[in-house]
Amino acid sequence: MAYYNIYPVLALYLSCFASLSSAQDLKLPLKSVNLGNWLVVEGWMKPSLFDEIPNKDLLDGTKVQLKSTKLQNYLAAENGGDSIVVINRTAASDWETFRLWRIDENSFNFRVSNKQFVGLSSEGTNRIVAMRDAPGDTETFLIVRKDGEPNRIRIQASNGLFLQAISDTILTADYGGSGWDDSDPSVFTMTIVGSLQGEYQIANGYGPDKAPQVLQDHRNSYITEEDFRFMSSNGLTAVRIPVGWWIACDPTPPKPFVGGSLQALDNAFTWAQKYGLKVIIDLHAVQASQNGMEHSATRDGYLEFGDSSIQDTVEVIDFLAERYAKNPALGAIELINEPWAPLVTLDTLKNYYKAGYDAIRKYTSSAYVILSNRLGPADRKELLSFAQGLSKAVIDVHYYSLYSDMFNGFSVQQNIDFIYNQRGSDLAAVTTSDGPLTFVGEWVAEWAINGASMEDYHRFAKAQLDVYGRATFGWAYWSYKCQYNHWSLKWMIENNYIKLN
Ligand SMILES: *[C@@H]1O[C@H](CO)[C@@H](O)[C@H](O)[C@H]1NC(C)=O
Repeated sequence: MAYYNIYPVLALYLSCFASLSSAQDLKLPLKSVNLGNWLVVEGWMKPSLFDEIPNKDLLDGTKVQLKSTKLQNYLAAENGGDSIVVINRTAASDWETFRLWRIDENSFNFRVSNKQFVGLSSEGTNRIVAMRDAPGDTETFLIVRKDGEPNRIRIQASNGLFLQAISDTILTADYGGSGWDDSDPSVFTMTIVGSLQGEYQIANGYGPDKAPQVLQDHRNSYITEEDFRFMSSNGLTAVRIPVGWWIACDPTPPKPFVGGSLQALDNAFTWAQKYGLKVIIDLHAVQASQNGMEHSATRDGYLEFGDSSIQDTVEVIDFLAERYAKNPALGAIELINEPWAPLVTLDTLKNYYKAGYDAIRKYTSSAYVILSNRLGPADRKELLSFAQGLSKAVIDVHYYSLYSDMFNGFSVQQNIDFIYNQRGSDLAAVTTSDGPLTFVGEWVAEWAINGASMEDYHRFAKAQLDVYGRATFGWAYWSYKCQYNHWSLKWMIENNYIKLN
């Protein structure tokens, strides 16, 4: 590889340092593991983290549908938003689904499918509309749940009065009565049809008084020095550490995020150095969300990463690169995790990758720079020619035998064949002799089969190790710890499902 063809003069200077530091002694391909759910929380991996949150089923991004018990119809944002709220739907879909923004454990905003917020009409009529792009007092509602029947609710508006269903098309906030009968126009049944358990939800759910302690306890206990010793002595050579954008604002990130993840990352570098592991910093959650998933730390599931997000995100990369460039444990920085096509366009992504790459190269010529392929409908080779012009660039692909109907009904052997044949050729297609290196940055020995034997799992894991072992930069298992055994590489190693040494 031609390392320094872009900035020959600067490169010559930097190369003097390079032999002393970091990525020079990187032994490729890496065998690594993701420290998922550590510095970016994902509730499904450890749900008990959320246990002490009051009204923990009503977190930011929870999707609810509301039905008037009197009219037996669903509430709907007419036209999806920018209009009145009506009560004339017998079935519920997008326009009948509201996403919560949690103000406190009882107070919420309701965001409709076109992204406006439900609120009191500004015309002083007490009519309920979905008109505003940003929520204020008149868009804030108290949800009152019935004792013992929490999905039977009444909704109090900012004027102190309750919402009532007057007719199919008239929803007002002017009811002063109380009662829980079906015939009461202020009673609604609430159905939860989706929820998120990410870093935004846990931080805002516990709130500013409790979240700092909860998250500090989690960060201090979930991954410790002992884990680095374990990883090193069991054949791993690197860790991929998902981080969120707020790490760059430590110790006082914008609410509701909580400081302290930077200290945890510093610790990881110290332990990595001590046990001879390399660190891949993975910017997993960016401001505005690149995929709408809870692991992007989205508030409500809307993907809004675009050209206007690039500068802020590059600043996060710049911060991380500056801080860790000279640390001998730094192996690579991944610029963004799993951007989704088509909402994140290829042009936007390339603009971001170019700027992020340049930010890293201000501080180090030896660290690798990892570019995540887009998920969704995107050509798997779309970044190859772009990356060819960059020194020490790596393409990250994620291979799960899940999340697609295609895998339902696959037998054990079909799953194993799929790895050798399909994944083998997928990986070969992006692994070119003169292009970027390749990295299977996420995979797991889990599948859509229930009750498979240990031997089945063993063969499935081995197939993936065989094939992903051909990735020129390496691979990373998802994850190190998880409530589900097969998702925990620690458990898989301790129980002899996977052997790396
Ligand atoms: C619901 O009411 C609105 C407003 O009057 C109307 O435009 C719409 O067609 C109605 N929808 C149904 C399904 O009745």
